[in-house]
Amino acid sequence: MVIKSPIKSNVRILLLGDRGVGKTSIILSLVSEEFPENVPTRAEEITIPADVTPEQVPTNIVDYSAIDQAEDTLNNLIRGASVVCVVYAVDNDDSIDRVSSYWLPLIKQNYPEKCCPVVLVGNKIDLVDFSTIDGILPIMEDFPEIETCIECSAKTLKNISEMFYYAQKAVLHPTSPIYSVEESD
Ligand code: GTP
Ligand code: MG
Repeated sequence: MVIKSPIKSNVRILLLGDRGVGKTSIILSLVSEEFPENVPTRAEEITIPADVTPEQVPTNIVDYSAIDQAEDTLNNLIRGASVVCVVYAVDNDDSIDRVSSYWLPLIKQNYPEKCCPVVLVGNKIDLVDFSTIDGILPIMEDFPEIETCIECSAKTLKNISEMFYYAQKAVLHPTSPIYSVEESD
């Protein structure tokens, strides 16, 4: 059986995560193809035309900053997103803990029915010589809205364009199960 998802005219990618994990740097690295040494707190919303995206769909990238945006703005941003990238820094355990203790529950709260897809992004891999993916897998089991996880570096540009491709793909070709075993008898 083939299940077709509705055709999307636009993909809105929202980046969330603790302060300093590198959200703005990731966005600016993608756009300028180099690491910005001095970043503003928040990047302006960016529109990428369809013909330069791998999936040929116009894509907006939205940054968030706790410094200049209030909590109700945050909730509105979450509700307007087609996909949320929850960013943590691989060298900061607190930022990893907060993925499951704060960010994922907050996203879920804003979608009482079907949650939007989520991509987990471990940034700053240039700073460590280990992977956080093994530690992240249990989080993926607890939160089925997580489509995928990826480690990247805004500094070296490693996996930056891939990260945005995964986010687009999570919206356009979701792999979530059609039903959850827990929910069915
Ligand atoms: P807020 O806007 O405060 O929420 O932070 P943010 O998540 O937007 O982080 P930002 O992009 O401002 O980056 C925070 C710091 O981390 C800056 O000093 C960046 O230069 C640095 N940084 C960001 N990405 C990387 C990376 O991949 N590697 C390294 N080494 N440093 C990074
Ligand atoms: Mg920022």
